[in-house]
Amino acid sequence: MKIHVRDDLPQAFLEVIRGDDLKSIALAGGSTPRKVYERWSKQRCPWESMHFFFGDERMVPPDDARSNFRMAREALLAQVPAKVHRIRGEDPPEAAASSYERELQQFFGADGRFDLVILGVGTDGHTASLFPGTSVLDSDRWAEAVWSESQSEHRVSLTFPVLNAARKTIVLAKGADKAEVITRWVNGRATDLPIGRLKGNIHLLLDETAASKL
Ligand code: 6PG
Repeated sequence: MKIHVRDDLPQAFLEVIRGDDLKSIALAGGSTPRKVYERWSKQRCPWESMHFFFGDERMVPPDDARSNFRMAREALLAQVPAKVHRIRGEDPPEAAASSYERELQQFFGADGRFDLVILGVGTDGHTASLFPGTSVLDSDRWAEAVWSESQSEHRVSLTFPVLNAARKTIVLAKGADKAEVITRWVNGRATDLPIGRLKGNIHLLLDETAASKL
């Protein structure tokens, strides 16, 4: 894991992906990525050849304020001519998970290797919608419907077989509330948390407050 501590997370992100040939990207939801996506949208990239997927989605319509697709569309996807493969939040969760998994398999074939996966991390150690104590943590499917007790909402999430196959993974975290979970993870004390199961070529991008206990 490579750790980058910069208050300018968007700039740190652009530096970490500089020179990468990104054709398949899984976007994170939540609030942290918004400014990163907004800065990325202003860059000169081969957008026409890029395919954006999602690491997870809240099971709400695409124009709902909670929708990860809506956030990404506002910040990035409406500004660039890339192809978008959203999770259909308006559908029943299991149907949405199955259709998303089919779309992933049609695109990737057998390997499911994203060029880039962008993730956030929750204070409880979840990432994407892989929450502590849920059975999806052990799933060998590529996408699963999840009930999040802590968020009291249905989600669809990529699973660890896909997340851990990525060529590059960027985890974004900012704010003092993330400092504890980040320190546990970096110090190898998060094996009992979902984020502790993440493997691969991981770049952890932190602002100063999220890094304050390292
Ligand atoms: C979501 C995300 C989730 C998020 C973390 C961090 O749908 O909410 O996929 O995993 O990345 O909860 O969220 P913040 O960036 O809002 O702190």
